[in-house]
Order: sequence, then C-alpha cells, then structure tokens
Amino acid sequence: MELRVSSRRIFRPLLALLLIGSAGVYSAAKAQTQPKAPDTMEARVQGCTACHGSHGQGTDNDYFPRLAGKPADYLYNQLQNFREGRRKYPPMNYLVTYLSDDYLHQIATYFSQQRPPYPTPAKPTVSASIVARGQQIVLNGDASKQIPACAACHGKALTGMEPAIPGLVGLHADYISAQLGAWRSGSRHAIAPDCMHTIATRLTDEDVNAVAAWLSTQKAPQNPVPAPARSLKTPLACGSEPQ
Ligand code: HEC
Ligand code: HEC
Repeated sequence: MELRVSSRRIFRPLLALLLIGSAGVYSAAKAQTQPKAPDTMEARVQGCTACHGSHGQGTDNDYFPRLAGKPADYLYNQLQNFREGRRKYPPMNYLVTYLSDDYLHQIATYFSQQRPPYPTPAKPTVSASIVARGQQIVLNGDASKQIPACAACHGKALTGMEPAIPGLVGLHADYISAQLGAWRSGSRHAIAPDCMHTIATRLTDEDVNAVAAWLSTQKAPQNPVPAPARSLKTPLACGSEPQ
C-alpha cells in the first residue's frame, strides 16, 4: 500500500514534469520563428493541467487533487505554502518557486471559478463499520477524543467555506489520508494557529482511514459552492480563516 502510493508519487509526476519541460523547450524553439502566443490564463495554467486536469477537476491518479471550485484564498495559501516550503511535494515546490504573489493570486482565482463536473464517487473498499465510523467523525466528531465534527468547518455539504476552507468532496481517499498524515508528521503546515494540525494529531490511523473512506464515497451536492464567509462558527481558531 505504502509502496504503491510512493511509487506513483515519484514516477508519474516526474514523467509529467518531463513532458512539461520538453514542451517548454519545444515552444521556446518555435517562438524564435513564430509570433508570441497570447498570454491567456489558459496558457499560463497549461503546465498544471497534466496533473490537475484541464479545468482543475483532478485526474484518475489517486494523489493529484481537484482544485476546481475551492475558495480562492485557500488555493492561494497553498501555492504560497509550496513556495515557502510549508508544504512539501518537489514538483509543486519547483513549479511555484519563481512565481510572484500577484501571479499566484490570478491562478488561484482562475481555478476557484472553474466548475467542471465531479468524479463518480468511489465504491467503498473497506468494511461498512469503518465507513460508518468515518461518517460519524465527519458529521458529529468524537467528543471523547476532542475531535470536532469536520462538517463544523468544512460545511454540512462538505463544500468548504469562504474565504479559505476547502471542500472535501471530489478528493480521492489516498489524497485525504496523505494530507492528514502530513499534518500529523509535521510536513504540512497552515497559517498559525494550525487547527488542522491540532485535529489531525487527535486522529488515530484507523480514524484517518475511516474519514478518508467515507469522504471519497460522497456525492457532490447539486450546487457545490463553498458556504459564505463566517456562516459557520469554527470550533477551533484557524489562522487561515478569519472569524
Ligand atoms: C507533476 C504533477 C503536478 C503539476 C504539474 C502541478 N501540480 Fe499542483 N499538486 C500536485 C500534487 C501531487 C499535489 C498534492 C501534493 C501534496 O500536498 O503532497 C498538488 C497540490 C496543489 C495544490 C493544493 C491543492 C489542495 O487542495 O490543497 C494547488 C493549489 C496546486 N497543486 C496548484 C497547481 C498549479 C497552479 C500548478 C501549475 C502551475 C500545479 N499545481 C502543477 C501535482 C502537480
Ligand atoms: C476548526 C475548523 C476545522 C475543522 C473542525 C476541520 N477542518 Fe479541515 N481544514 C480547516 C482549514 C482552515 C483548512 C485549510 C488549511 C490550510 O490552509 O492548509 C482545512 C483543510 C483540510 C484538508 C486539506 C484539503 C486539501 O485539499 O488538501 C483536509 C483533507 C481536511 N481539512 C480534513 C478535515 C477532516 C477529515 C476533519 C475532521 C476530522 C477536519 N478537516 C476538520 C479547518 C477545519
């Protein structure tokens, strides 16, 4: 399991980067003989779509996340996190190293406005009791372990909240558990106070598998827009989400 995820994490992205790299060389060679291509947003994000899909819908790869429709400030915070090293994934760190705040902001806004369809929800690969435990944690939390309901901040419809809490629908189980694992191990950080670090460290491996399994089987709602800013009172303070 670990091996499967890690070999995909390394080889597929590298292949995609090689393709992007060679496309860059090719277009640079072409640019000498042809007029410059227009600088549209579609052109700017072309290097992103191999991994995130043509409209940020994600791909079949278990590890490449959907970007479309997540709040703009959430996406912007993540691009900054990759640039400053608060999140670690070498192809992403490399791609955003030399991009300005303004450029990152435009990319974030672009993907936040995309509305491609959601993937078909996954079929559960774990037992019904594990899936039920996941549903329980997401919708109600676990007071005995001071775990707040995920829906308290990510919204009842799990489409997130403006300006900076992401939706949790349309993500693969492997991606979700990898992110919770990264918060637990300290390789992913958010703006302090990092509420997700606090929450993730209260979850056991079993809890992580259960929430990831249940979330990945959920269908996106008809109108998958994030809840309005401040419409939910978050049970913990999160540095990235002003209250
Ligand atoms: C080689 C594949 C690849 C390419 C190319 C790529 N990404 Fe990513 N991106 C990923 C992966 C994998 C992650 C999750 C990494 C992690 O956190 O471990 C990610 C994460 C992200 C996130 C955070 C998503 C979230 O929900 O937290 C954003 C935003 C993002 N990428 C934007 C971009 C943009 C913009 C580009 C183009 C400039 C781009 N990516 C190009 C693979 C890629
Ligand atoms: C107190 C509010 C709060 C609660 C409760 C909460 N979250 Fe979060 N969550 C956030 C914020 C804020 C972010 C964005 C952090 C950042 O900027 O990186 C986030 C981000 C995430 C992400 C990253 C999504 C991505 O695309 O990379 C995942 C996964 C996640 N939360 C899962 C959960 C789960 C599972 C639970 C319940 C066990 C939960 N969250 C409970 C506030 C919360």
